[in-house]
Amino acid sequence: MIILFFLFVPVITNGQAEEKQVNKLIINADLGKHKISRHIYGHFAEHLGRCIYGGIWVGTDSPIPNTRGIRNDVVQALRGLDIPNLRWPGGCFADTYHWKDGIGPCNNRPSIVNVHWGGVTEDNSFGTHEFMELCEQLNCEAYITGNLGSGTVQEMAEWVEYLTSDAESPMTKLRKENGREDPWQVKFWGIGNENWGCGGNMSPEYYTDLMRRYSTYCRNYSDNKLLKIWGGPYGTDYNWTEVLMKEQKSRGMMQGLSLHYYTVYKDWGNKGSATRFAEEEWFGTIKTTLKMEEIITGHSTIMDKYDPEKRIGLYIDEWGNWFDVEPGTEPGFLYQQNSLRDAIVAAINLNIFNQYCERVKMTNIAQTVNVLQAMILTRNEKMVLTPSYFVFKMYKVHQDAILLPSELKCEDYQFGEEKVPALNVSASVNKDGIIHISVVNVNPHKNLKLECEIRGAKVSSVSGEILTSKEINAFNDFDLKERVFPVKFNGAKLKGEKLIVDVPAKSIITLELN
Ligand code: AHR
Repeated sequence: MIILFFLFVPVITNGQAEEKQVNKLIINADLGKHKISRHIYGHFAEHLGRCIYGGIWVGTDSPIPNTRGIRNDVVQALRGLDIPNLRWPGGCFADTYHWKDGIGPCNNRPSIVNVHWGGVTEDNSFGTHEFMELCEQLNCEAYITGNLGSGTVQEMAEWVEYLTSDAESPMTKLRKENGREDPWQVKFWGIGNENWGCGGNMSPEYYTDLMRRYSTYCRNYSDNKLLKIWGGPYGTDYNWTEVLMKEQKSRGMMQGLSLHYYTVYKDWGNKGSATRFAEEEWFGTIKTTLKMEEIITGHSTIMDKYDPEKRIGLYIDEWGNWFDVEPGTEPGFLYQQNSLRDAIVAAINLNIFNQYCERVKMTNIAQTVNVLQAMILTRNEKMVLTPSYFVFKMYKVHQDAILLPSELKCEDYQFGEEKVPALNVSASVNKDGIIHISVVNVNPHKNLKLECEIRGAKVSSVSGEILTSKEINAFNDFDLKERVFPVKFNGAKLKGEKLIVDVPAKSIITLELN
């Protein structure tokens, strides 16, 4: 839990007393109990705009270098993030997806209309086999969202069987005919997506009944064990969580409850530009992001009531900034640029997820390539890594490490009449005993000094990386490659028992303590 308040120390300058704020962080290096699941660092790729088509899949005949149709440059970049899992095929797309359209010889696959995203033709050239190939290339777990909105129980049951069974059956025969002899391992299975909205506009009671039915037939085959994730609420819809959690109490059918929350500053009709914004939007976006903590706490409190042993994970399988699309691009493709502000938002969210890792077992930023808060943008054969990409790269040190409890006392960042805590942190220790601390300074004007006390560990050296830029809206573009990228950080010093960190304005730092 992060505790926030001011400390004022009187300082005498030219005979006059002046109040100087001191920011203090205590890290209890010997009190860590909970693992930060690597799945908190998960990703999401939907059949939406140019995420799959163009961003990941170019087809085997493309002049863009690819391995069995999947872009080599994108895979190589994503490998640098140690992606633990990838959610697919949606999103709302999953609620209309019929998986049998996406198997077998490509030229026999039917073309359909992607009704949710721009009404474009979906030729199904990227389907089950191609997705599993992508997961193999990325060395990550598959997280598949089944269609409970418009698909049948039989359809979902057969998809699980097709993917994971090694018995003799019509589904396994079909898989083998399509070129895959051995079953795959599929760890995560979503029973629907946003079923209160694009997934069928259901009430939580109706969804719960359906979900029990669909869940029953999604079986464990061979040695594959599915973790079933129920379609959860959006934001502060606590009633949805209450109804689902009450239902699962004695049944043990649910291993995860999904939660979606996007940072949308102002309103859905006027989300603002991803790169052309002033300090008001910077502040508003940060304030809206910080609400994630309250939302997690709200849902966790309900979950604690029905699942005090914390067997069921909270899976925040869609999160991130949602801005207006880039001018001149198809509105249904959700293509937006990505600036330092996105990096700050990613870092704040990841700090919060780390802090609540006892309940938060997975999260998936939306989305991997060319959609919403993307890691990577592509234009034909070109590729650019976004500031958000670099945050995931800096933060991967926390994957599967033990969360270190911390207490932060810091000053506020004030904008007009409103304020938020200026600093935001999380810390962990990995299996080799190395401590990592991630610190975000959201104040775009003020460098802050942070005094850290590391209790319960002997630290003899500190090094680090920093991500910042001159302007709050700096971004990476195809012709201006990598203006916002991490560099070595020299602003942390050990002074006796203390670690003193000079945290520059609008920056993200990850420190390594040995
Ligand atoms: O990520 C874009 C969309 O946002 C997803 O398809 C849907 O689940 C959510 O509303």
